Amino acid sequence: MHYPFTRKRRLRANQAIRNLSQEHHLTVNDLIWPVFILDGFNRTESIDSMPGVQRMSVDMLLDKLTPLHQQGLNAIALFPVINESYKTDDAAEAWNPEGLVQKAVKSIKAALPELLVVTDVALDPYTSHGQDGIINEAGDVINDVTIKALVMQALSHAKAGADVVAPSDMMDGRVGAIREALEHKKYPTTAIMSYAAKYASVFYGPFRDAVGSAANLGKSNKNTYQMNPANAREAIDEIGMDIDEGADMVMVKPGMPYLDIIKTAKEHFNVPICAYQVSGEYAMLQSAIDHGFLDEQPAIMEALLCFKRAGTDAILTYYADRVVTWLTD
Ligand code: PBG
Repeated sequence: MHYPFTRKRRLRANQAIRNLSQEHHLTVNDLIWPVFILDGFNRTESIDSMPGVQRMSVDMLLDKLTPLHQQGLNAIALFPVINESYKTDDAAEAWNPEGLVQKAVKSIKAALPELLVVTDVALDPYTSHGQDGIINEAGDVINDVTIKALVMQALSHAKAGADVVAPSDMMDGRVGAIREALEHKKYPTTAIMSYAAKYASVFYGPFRDAVGSAANLGKSNKNTYQMNPANAREAIDEIGMDIDEGADMVMVKPGMPYLDIIKTAKEHFNVPICAYQVSGEYAMLQSAIDHGFLDEQPAIMEALLCFKRAGTDAILTYYADRVVTWLTD
């Protein structure tokens, strides 16, 4: 392995040989598009901290999804923007069979039955205090009480026709409880994508603006349930537990600052490893693009290819709509 017998540049000399020797690829099959949904009809809203992303009513979303699905978009993840008047301390709107998410799942599956619909299982869009779980008088999120609510929420999504339920709340034991309930209530084919290694990250800020939970949360944080960004080995325990409890796929979140965790997860486990390029990552890239500091398409494609190199199977990205179009043009 020494120069000049080995010249690494031979495999970089032209596009054809670079294609031939490329180790990792990004395809439309890798993408899950997270979308923010609104009540009502014919509504779109822009999001200040996520320029280029819109909240949409389900009819508007369907207009966008139909051609994207034809181009090969496989999967979406729904995030509801819940009216303040429906937010309560017990988050009961979360399992309303006629709630925004439940109705959206039904209409999307009716219109596009082959499109995989992933729903978020967590209470934060529905709680008056913006936490992912139910709190006591001291303001602490109570694990086992929260699990009961999450189970009802997950069942209501399965009943509406969700293909995949994705618990993002980081309560201990929720995957097992949801799996057991799905089996018991005869939803054996509903998959669980667990947000298994979800860090307490500042990069979720723009998302909380987008779903309107930032003001509810105020100065509180999620440090008692989401993981400490300083920890790597702990992620192995979290992911292992969720797989044992019945998760079919697991997720690492955020993405780009946590590629080391993705790589470790891939080395340790055999289930699909998903990663979420979160709202803060979108905001960073998009602001640089909007200022002309980065070229849009190459910057986005490189960032997503790096997720693949680290070992990611499916990637949740707000760029999925643009990427599907670029990959199929
Ligand atoms: C809520 C949830 C969050 C995200 C996905 N589901 C925010 C949070 O935990 O505060 C973040 C997604 C993003 O930032 O793009 N449980």
